[in-house]
Formats: sequence, C-alpha cells, structure tokens
Amino acid sequence: MPSLKIFVGTMYGGALDVAEQVTPLFEQAGYDVTIVEQPSLADLDPLPDLALFCVSTTGSGDFPGNFVPFARDLREAPPALANWRYGLIALGDSSYGDTFCGAGRALDALLDELGAERLGERLEIDAMETFMADDAAIPWVEAWIDEQGLKVA
Ligand SMILES: Cc1cc2nc3c(=O)[nH]c(=O)nc-3n(C[C@H](O)[C@H](O)[C@H](O)COP(=O)(O)O)c2cc1C
Repeated sequence: MPSLKIFVGTMYGGALDVAEQVTPLFEQAGYDVTIVEQPSLADLDPLPDLALFCVSTTGSGDFPGNFVPFARDLREAPPALANWRYGLIALGDSSYGDTFCGAGRALDALLDELGAERLGERLEIDAMETFMADDAAIPWVEAWIDEQGLKVA
C-alpha cells in the first residue's frame, strides 16, 4: 500500500481539521495515511510516496509556529526531493492583502526549488469566503485524486 503523509501547519487547528477530514478519502483511494502535526526532516526519510501539505498563514505571510522548524530546515539542509509528488492546500484570509496565503505560496516555491513536483494547482482557501475550510477541501481532494489518477485500490 503506498504511503501518504499529510503535513500540517496550523495556528488554530483549521488546517489540522482539513487533514483529518480528507484522510478517509485517501484511505478509500488505497493509501496508508499519516497526519504529521509537528513536521521535521525526519518525516521525509524515507520519502512517502505522496504528500499533501495543509498549511495556514499567520503574522504577515508567515508560517505557523509548528511548521517553522520544518520550513527552516528545508531551506538550510535541503533533502533530495527531485520528482517527489505533492499537493498543497493553503489556508488564508484575503483581508490580509498581499500576504494572502503567503506561507502556502512560500512553501510551494521552496518545494519547487528543491525539485519536487506539485500535482495540479494549489488550493487556496479564503476565510473571507469559506467559513468551514472542509467545505472547499473535500471536493478539491476528491477531484485531485480523480484527475491526477491517484487511486490505487
Ligand atoms: C494573527 C493572524 C495573522 C494572520 N495573517 C495572515 C496572513 O498574513 N495572510 C493570510 O492569508 N491569512 C492570515 N491569517 C488568517 C489565517 O491564515 C486563517 O484564518 C486560517 O484559516 C487559519 O488557519 P488555522 O486554523 O489552521 O491556523 C492570519 C490570522 C491571524 C489570527
């Protein structure tokens, strides 16, 4: 059974809730799913077959505290991520203007620099428009699994 890790960056639990809500969708698609609440580089050794990042933004476009060490280590001690496949769900609030989903966007750029391959488009969930992030995330994940041909079972 292929492995999927869902890496969570959250301040208030919304991104963790998204991770928990989409987990059964991946299990039904044939994956062994692990939610990683305190990501570290050790979680990339060995690399899971597939990754999903659920990351909110705090401060002025900053990573949530639980995600800061992981993002720092990715920059400072970059592991080999060539062709590693991932999806990305960014949570933010457009009332913050230019820093909307800043953490998710920065992570996406960093993973790209390291050679990883994002499957499909990044989902950006705007708290101004979507009260419950799950309402946007669940249909997106269903379509993502389908359109990217990720179903294995
Ligand atoms: C202090 C604070 C700062 C925030 N800064 C930003 C920001 O710069 N950009 C953005 O898009 N959203 C920002 N947000 C909105 C959060 O990213 C959004 O509410 C998100 O859904 C929170 O997800 P979480 O529950 O996983 O932490 C901020 C929220 C707070 C409370």
